[in-house]
Amino acid sequence: MRDLPIGLFDSGMGGLTVMRQIAQILPNEHLIYLGDTARLPYGNKSPDAIRRFSSDNASFLLEQKIKLLIVSCHTASVHALPLLQATLPIPVIGVTQPATLSLLAATQTNCIAVLATTSTIASNVFQPLLLAQRPKLQIFPVACPLFVPLVEEGLQNHPSAYLLADHYLAPLRAHNIDAALLACTHYPLIRAPIQAALPNATLIEPARACALQAHSLLASLDLLNTTTAPRYTFFASDDPHKFQRLAPHFFQSPIDTVHLRPI
Ligand code: DGL
Repeated sequence: MRDLPIGLFDSGMGGLTVMRQIAQILPNEHLIYLGDTARLPYGNKSPDAIRRFSSDNASFLLEQKIKLLIVSCHTASVHALPLLQATLPIPVIGVTQPATLSLLAATQTNCIAVLATTSTIASNVFQPLLLAQRPKLQIFPVACPLFVPLVEEGLQNHPSAYLLADHYLAPLRAHNIDAALLACTHYPLIRAPIQAALPNATLIEPARACALQAHSLLASLDLLNTTTAPRYTFFASDDPHKFQRLAPHFFQSPIDTVHLRPI
């Protein structure tokens, strides 16, 4: 069991920001990544559709004989994590819950923003999670639907990214916000435009907290692989060449081969 890979999926390349942290914190683990590029973006789809896509991605990764599934997408974590945890025969973790602790540690003013896809914001999942831990928190959720297509096109440093970030985030500057959660795994790529629009906020990325959670879960189950040289395998459900070309922005290492996983 210890030699089995960890599976990860996202709607596209955003989850590679999580995979990068997993590769650092769990350097001996084999990793299999699926980017569901044929159905991207998830962020403007209905919860039912997101659950269907997530179950299909999970079935494919289970066929690859994984020991742990990491839902490396906030939109899928918010809508499909309980279903996957209840139905899969292996442990499943997401990115939503680990993010909240880092966010709370970063705020002094107790005035925070949550930036995410339309579907994640509409789920209202962060409010109860955060308020249960700190009732006096003031939370400003903002949907930023055009960030994902911009990042998937590799335009995260284009002037339009700065204009768009300002369009979505300028209203937040009227508040005393000192921390903002990047609650979409694509958003670390568009960090500079977000920071320019919110100069007083510490931007929180949940990938590291998620990787640490994966480490302690595998350790508690005695499933850590501490001996082998890792193998990284990549699948995309559409246009593997585009995935291969743009993925190094997210993974920060070149990727040799991306296999097509037709849906
Ligand atoms: N990366 C995904 C997330 O974390 C969503 C991107 C999309 O809209 O497909 O929410």
